[in-house]
Amino acid sequence: MSDEKAQKAQNAETTGTIPAQSRGHDRPHGEVLLKVTGLQKHFPIRKGLLKRQVGAVHAVDGLDFEVRSGETLGVVGESGCGKSTMGRLITRLLEPTGGTVEFEGKDITHLGVSGMRPLRRDVQMIFQDPYSSLNPRHTIGTIVGAPFKLQGVQPEGGVKKEVQRLLSVVGLNPEHYNRYPHEFSGGQRQRIGIARALALNPKLVVADEPVSALDVSIQAQVVNLLDDLQEELGLTYVIIAHDLSVVRHVSDRIAVMYLGKIVELADRDSLYKAPMHPYTKALMSAVPIPDPKRRGAKSERILLKGDVPSPISPPSGCRFHTRCWKATEICKTVEPPLAELKPGQQVACHHPENFEDQAPQETVLLSAAKEAAELVPEAVLEESAETSAAVAAEVAESAETAEPAEVAEPAEVAEPAEVAEPAETAEPAEVAKADGAGETQESTDK
Ligand SMILES: Nc1ncnc2c1ncn2[C@@H]1O[C@H](COP(=O)(O)OP(=O)(O)OP(=O)(O)O)[C@@H](O)[C@H]1O
Ligand code: SF4
Ligand SMILES: [Mg+2]
Repeated sequence: MSDEKAQKAQNAETTGTIPAQSRGHDRPHGEVLLKVTGLQKHFPIRKGLLKRQVGAVHAVDGLDFEVRSGETLGVVGESGCGKSTMGRLITRLLEPTGGTVEFEGKDITHLGVSGMRPLRRDVQMIFQDPYSSLNPRHTIGTIVGAPFKLQGVQPEGGVKKEVQRLLSVVGLNPEHYNRYPHEFSGGQRQRIGIARALALNPKLVVADEPVSALDVSIQAQVVNLLDDLQEELGLTYVIIAHDLSVVRHVSDRIAVMYLGKIVELADRDSLYKAPMHPYTKALMSAVPIPDPKRRGAKSERILLKGDVPSPISPPSGCRFHTRCWKATEICKTVEPPLAELKPGQQVACHHPENFEDQAPQETVLLSAAKEAAELVPEAVLEESAETSAAVAAEVAESAETAEPAEVAEPAEVAEPAEVAEPAETAEPAEVAKADGAGETQESTDK
């Protein structure tokens, strides 16, 4: 947790907006809460009558990282790079193919349903889509109160009172206890999802793209709510996003993923000041930062050409070599390890940016490298710059005013939105996802 956050947390403690029993956790800030080693998830691809396995989607392919108590780890990367799969693996909603997950020093990699039950209180997930993650047939009271029922927990003062308290903590009107999800706007629904995740006073909250389905102005409110809750409740977050504009406001450290791997893991400030992996640099220049000094730096605006390769047969060596403008022969054949090249900055690259070359003998670019990226004229980026700047401005503005953000009145929606089955349960649930990768099938979790 950054000094700024620690100070704010202390202030929140003294102002006392949250009942004392639900504040904070015993674990000292900065201690390792979650440790992931060599984590893998390969979804088998089966074909034919006999459902023979003919390949696998290498969704997550060897992740090593730690999450420290009280911090926010942001995880970014393009669509399909394995972010959600990683989130579901560390919350044990998916069974890993390889590697280990340790929570508070305990190996939880292959715990069964009963072994996981106590842990389900400590580790919660907020889902990406506030429309499909709430059961349309259940009232808000039932949804937010479900974790108590599932865990057999009787809160002091009763479930209703506790649910109403949680609703007010996330900025919703406790009187709306009996209303249904369709009566709420997207931002309000996400607040309901957050209230549900907080019900059992978890230690770790994994938020999978918590704001990407929301309007820009609402995004800022939800981001600020998460930030405030962290300070007041001593939460630890893993926040997943597909671009850097959201995570930069909330993260202490950021992991950049590419095709199932972490390519860079660094403190937020180091990452923004001097990104070392070419892919991080490209991601950052695709989302221009509203800083006049950087705006002028036209040479930093890089547009990656070509599609992300298939995770069914990822490229050899460095997986980014088919799109990297710095790729040499060694990049094609030798996978660069994720190594700490600067204090607090781990990078997997033979020819990192802002640092000495790790393979200086390799000077001849691959022919594909010359075509891999291009500088983009300012005009092309204007639109995304505006969006990014708008999020940044909204976040800064609403942080300054520190008002309870979202309105408590539900939106007037006549019809319930079309929704899939709820992800309301705290029990493991495998998530199927069609991606044109052939007929994929995954056996259910143990
Ligand atoms: N149950 C599944 N069966 C087969 N393949 C899957 C399954 N779930 C995910 N995948 C595949 O694994 C890869 C990673 O998916 P994942 O959803 O983790 O990516 P992501 O980074 O969260 O993407 P997005 O930004 O679009 O949410 C994708 O190629 C996806 O199609
Ligand atoms: S320079 Fe080589 S190792 Fe580094 S990202 Fe590019 S392809 Fe990968
Ligand atoms: Mg996802």
